[in-house]
This record gives sequence, structure tokens and C-alpha cells, in this order.
Amino acid sequence: MKHLIAPSLLSADFANLQKACEMLNKSQADWFHLDVMDGMFVPNITFGMPVIKAIKKHTTKPLDVHLMIEQPERYIKAFKESGADILTVHYEACTHLHRTLQSIKNEGMLTGVALNPHTSIELLEPVLEHIDVVCVMSVNPGFGGQSFIEGTYRKVAKLKDLITRYNLKTKIEIDGGVTTENAKALLEVGADVLVSGSFIFKSKNPTQTIKELKEIK
Ligand code: DX5
Ligand code: ZN
Repeated sequence: MKHLIAPSLLSADFANLQKACEMLNKSQADWFHLDVMDGMFVPNITFGMPVIKAIKKHTTKPLDVHLMIEQPERYIKAFKESGADILTVHYEACTHLHRTLQSIKNEGMLTGVALNPHTSIELLEPVLEHIDVVCVMSVNPGFGGQSFIEGTYRKVAKLKDLITRYNLKTKIEIDGGVTTENAKALLEVGADVLVSGSFIFKSKNPTQTIKELKEIK
């Protein structure tokens, strides 16, 4: 399957979100990646349900909602009602991850689990069959525009092995510092979804940058 591109609106102009949505709608972007931060799990605060609801009105592409919040199980229903299609929680923020994944599935969304750079892939083995998307963080979550952590390749390769061994359809998403420089190598080790924020939105022609990321073979 061809890989997917999920531009992160964290690097868009927040005063012009409608314009960003229209650009993404016309582009080869597959998903909208939306970063929700609570100032507790990560040292930054972004946006929540009202903004996601507003974005939903301007696109039919799937909303890939990345929750960087403590106890995300408190808000599963609320994010569903806001329009999330894929709901990603952090492994490090969930005491009862299995139950949280079931709740996300019961709400009719795809399940995602994100791993901080220091968190081992092996920890997901007991619940891997319940995860639609594993989001491998290639920066420490909290901010756009950070540089890619090289150890990510090793983690992606390990995760790919695990998914293949269990014959699962779980997708591997990479989030943080993704550019046309590292995308090819990431796809080679097993990535299925590339999140990219600043590289797309700070480029001269974001539509063209998305096309370049999409067309990497
Ligand atoms: C970081 C977020 C990312 C961020 C990626 O905590 O999860 O989605 O927007 O931005 P770049 O591509 O600029 O690293
Ligand atoms: Zn993200």
C-alpha cells in the first residue's frame, strides 16, 4: 500500500485555519493530524474540541487526533463528538491502556497509541492486536520544528517485525522532524504514515511539499 501523508496543523497559521484546511483538501494529504496538548503531559498547550469541531466543518478527510494529555480516557466521547476519526493516546499517559483502546473502538474510531522516544516497542506487544495505528514519536512531544531523533529507525524496524510476526494490519506512523531527507529511509524500515508539520507549513509551496512527500518511493 502507498504510504499516507498526515500534515500537522500545529505549524499552520491559527488565525487562518480555514485557509489551511482548503489547501490540505486540494493537496495529496491523506489525513489531517491534530495535536492536542494540555500543558501537563507536555509543557505546551494547543487546542481542544471546539477547534477540532470547527476544522471538521471544512474537510471530509479523516481527522487524526493526537492526544498529548494526561488521562485521555476522560475525553474519548468528547473527541468522537468533535469529529475525530483516529484517536491516539500516549502509552505513557494511560494506566489502563487496554480498556482505553476498547473505549475508543466502541465509539467507532480507529485506535492509536503514541510512544515517546524513550518508550520501548516491546511494551505494546500485549495490546498490539487492538491498535490500528502506532505513532512512533521521533521527537519529544510538545513542539513542532524539532530535529528528528535517529534512534527512530531502529524502533520502527522492531515494530514492523512484531506486526509482521503477528500478521496484523497495524499501521506505523512517524511523528516529528519528518522531511524529504529522512522520509525514504523511514518508509524502507516500515513506516506507513508520515506526519509532517513545520517542513510542510514553513515551505514556500506547502501543496508541492506534500506532493513530494507523497511521491517518495
Ligand atoms: C509534536 C507533535 C507533532 C508536530 C510535528 O509534539 O506531535 O505532530 O506537529 O511537527 P514537526 O513536523 O514540525 O516536527
Ligand atoms: Zn503529533
